[in-house]
Amino acid sequence: MIKFYRKVRLLGSLITIGFSAGLLANSALADGAVGHGEKIIIAHRGASGYLPEHTIAAKAMAYAMGADYLEQDLVMTKDNRIIVLHDHHLDQVTNVRDVFPNRARKDGKFYVIDFTLAELETLSVIERFEIIDGQQTPVFKDRFPLGKSQFKIHTFEEEIELIQGLNRSTGKDVGIYPEIKSAAFHRQEGKDISLAVLKVLKTYGYTNKSDKVFLQSFEPFELKRIHDELLPQMGMDIKLVQLLWPADHGDWIKQKGSIKEIATFADGIGPKFSMLVDKASVVGNVKASGLATRAHSKGLVVHPYTFRTEKSEIPNYAENYTDLLNIFLFQIGVDGLFTDFTDKTVKFLETARE
Ligand code: G3P
Ligand code: CA
Repeated sequence: MIKFYRKVRLLGSLITIGFSAGLLANSALADGAVGHGEKIIIAHRGASGYLPEHTIAAKAMAYAMGADYLEQDLVMTKDNRIIVLHDHHLDQVTNVRDVFPNRARKDGKFYVIDFTLAELETLSVIERFEIIDGQQTPVFKDRFPLGKSQFKIHTFEEEIELIQGLNRSTGKDVGIYPEIKSAAFHRQEGKDISLAVLKVLKTYGYTNKSDKVFLQSFEPFELKRIHDELLPQMGMDIKLVQLLWPADHGDWIKQKGSIKEIATFADGIGPKFSMLVDKASVVGNVKASGLATRAHSKGLVVHPYTFRTEKSEIPNYAENYTDLLNIFLFQIGVDGLFTDFTDKTVKFLETARE
């Protein structure tokens, strides 16, 4: 099912004006994104292969495993705070149904934007689940058990302070990779999440392309607005990444000029990894779709998502997780990737360099 935030109008109707693709493109990754060699490992929702996604524990674990960047998906509360959570509803990763049984909307969902931060902080965060036959069923059955231990929702500021604190205490320079979730939904609800996120970034010193931040969005209109209006207004100029989802962006991205258009407002693309590979690929004969080459030709970095070790997540053209990493990092030639398993990806890159 396509999530609401991905139901965005495509950028095809936008008129490209006034920007030099090359100027932005050449500045992408000029500084501040040095990872494992030239490749960066982005901890997708933290060490989410091992601990409930987007918890402080999962972020600390991913940091310790050697991620170059930690990802934050961001949504807004009723009292205009930004929290780190994948969805703009709470249903699949918290016990909201038990704590606030009467606060669902007519569609049966519990929306973050209907709760204050203080209320959200009373909830427990648990491993992602679906309701099947009336039972909470984990999405990944061999991951952290449902309902064990105690995890909480936290703010964007708290996570930045964790990462910056660890950078100080370890001497490392790990970056942040925030995603603005559902900007159109937030706007309908009267909130400008993009502006609020930029204010936090500026407060914590992420203001220039040389700073260790990539700001991502699935919504091209919103990313262009951030580039054209909000960043200049805030006196900022940070790296932007256009996320791509096959159902919404698949046709558009195949069109001539689409990559050139993205390069007028973004520094990189973040496609679902399947978009980089031809469907005819088989084990031992993987063909690139050409998207990575096209993006690179415009100076855009390519950071696909999401690499997982579970058998169900390994496509039929790869033998295993190691093979999958080899295909994307060294055959397709991506510049980095989002993974639930930072440790295994760090180990792969270290071994590959030996
Ligand atoms: O932002 C990259 C990747 O996280 C996109 O997918 O749905 O996990 O946010 P999603
Ligand atoms: Ca994300």
